[in-house]
Amino acid sequence: MNRHLVTGGAGFIGSALVRGLLRDGASRVTVVDNLLTGNERNLDEVRDSVDFLNVDIRDYNALRKAMDGVEVVFHEAAIPSVPRSIHDPVPSHDVNVNGTFNVLRAAKDSGVRRVVYAASSSCYGDTLVLPKVETMQTNPKSPYAAQKLMGEYYMSVWASCFGLETVSIRYFNVFGPRQDPTSPYSGILSLFMTALLDRRSPTLFGDGGQSRDFTFVEDVVALNLKAAKAPAEVVSGKVYNGGNGGRITLNEAWSLLQGIERVSIPPVYGPPREGDVRDSQADTVAAVRDLGHSPQYTFEEGMRLTLEWYRNSR
Ligand code: UD1
Repeated sequence: MNRHLVTGGAGFIGSALVRGLLRDGASRVTVVDNLLTGNERNLDEVRDSVDFLNVDIRDYNALRKAMDGVEVVFHEAAIPSVPRSIHDPVPSHDVNVNGTFNVLRAAKDSGVRRVVYAASSSCYGDTLVLPKVETMQTNPKSPYAAQKLMGEYYMSVWASCFGLETVSIRYFNVFGPRQDPTSPYSGILSLFMTALLDRRSPTLFGDGGQSRDFTFVEDVVALNLKAAKAPAEVVSGKVYNGGNGGRITLNEAWSLLQGIERVSIPPVYGPPREGDVRDSQADTVAAVRDLGHSPQYTFEEGMRLTLEWYRNSR
């Protein structure tokens, strides 16, 4: 019987978390993924230690069975992307809201002790003040942001009404190896990496002056492991920023990458993107205090490691 289950465990962040759990001493990990955006290749290195279940998180009965005997669930499965949720809101609502509801219901009914949830910094929307603190008023600007926020509310309510331990971590633009660069909805840094290696210009929506707190995937993995172990009386039902604490504009990020690669490729600028947040930066005080968050990778270190991975995997 496996003690850990990762929904979305064949995805970019989920598979990194599976490897992190195994490094941390788990003997086996259960992965639930319907391979919509995930890929079993992401688990190649750890296949022998993974019980893979091709299950959609909207399937309560399958989840209930998968969670039998599980102690901690990491809920990473989602249909990501702000623009995708605007172009096609029904599937993202169904998976991100109804799916999350099912994960909680199945977890409770299966006797799971704790659920650690992948929430999103998008819930803040545009704030007057940076960095963004958990105590600030949320202001979602897209269906995706609203859906992820709804998930946080459900987490807290499952803690208060049903005695399940929950911790929500608001991710701030996670990047790293294995992020899929092939979709129009792919994360900007994965698009940057492939554009750079192809010696093509990336397209920047707007003036490229929008900023993000890009967070290296291994720092998010480490934070999840800590969130699984932190004392319930301190963390349960709560929400924490899982960012790095820095902030860089898209223009600066592209310049840095060109510098690393010693090339000069001016970007192309396009119209601003609907639902886009202008600036994003995490206040990490609460996560440091309660979870022991301690990001280990500077943006540049993370970018270098990621670029090498894309180069070697071509
Ligand atoms: C948002 C969330 C993030 C979440 C992600 C899930 C915020 C601040 N962040 O990321 O926590 O994990 O959704 O999908 O809301 N861009 C271009 N050209 C492109 C693609 C994107 O200029 O080809 C720009 C976007 O307009 C945006 C930035 O790059 O300003 C980052 O976009 P993206 O990587 O899609 O992530 P967010 O929407 O910021």
